[in-house]
Amino acid sequence: MKLGKWIELPKISDPRGNLTFIENSKHIPFDIKRVYYLYDVPAGVARGGHAHINLTQVAVALSGSFDFLLDNGFEKERYTLNSPYKGLLIQNSTWREMENFSSGSVCLVLASNAYSEDDYIRNYETFLQSCKKG
Ligand code: TYD
Repeated sequence: MKLGKWIELPKISDPRGNLTFIENSKHIPFDIKRVYYLYDVPAGVARGGHAHINLTQVAVALSGSFDFLLDNGFEKERYTLNSPYKGLLIQNSTWREMENFSSGSVCLVLASNAYSEDDYIRNYETFLQSCKKG
């Protein structure tokens, strides 16, 4: 089972460099309500460590590389993000950890909802219980 799904984004290349664009309905399977990005992540640090009740996200490595460890309570998968034209779609009820951030890496995240702390499950045992209940 695939816990994440790769989304190939358009890449326009010419001698001046590359350009990638993202449009709501064309490339992202939800209305983008929020954009945030992680940067200046110190070496060796892990982020994430939570799941969302009702939030779909697409993560893109705008620069550098890092890993997303996805976990649905039954299986775990590691995805390495290292391309600015490849997005990783992450559904709700998926525990995620991010690690191995390279120096200068930037992680862009497109989200289907505005920020709400109530949407987070930050306790792994609570997450596992919610997975068992389905
Ligand atoms: P968090 O989602 O825990 O970060 P990560 O998953 O990348 O490790 O968020 C870190 C802090 O930032 C937390 O206090 C909530 C706050 N935050 C916002 O206020 N708005 C947002 O859109 C996000 C993603 C986080």
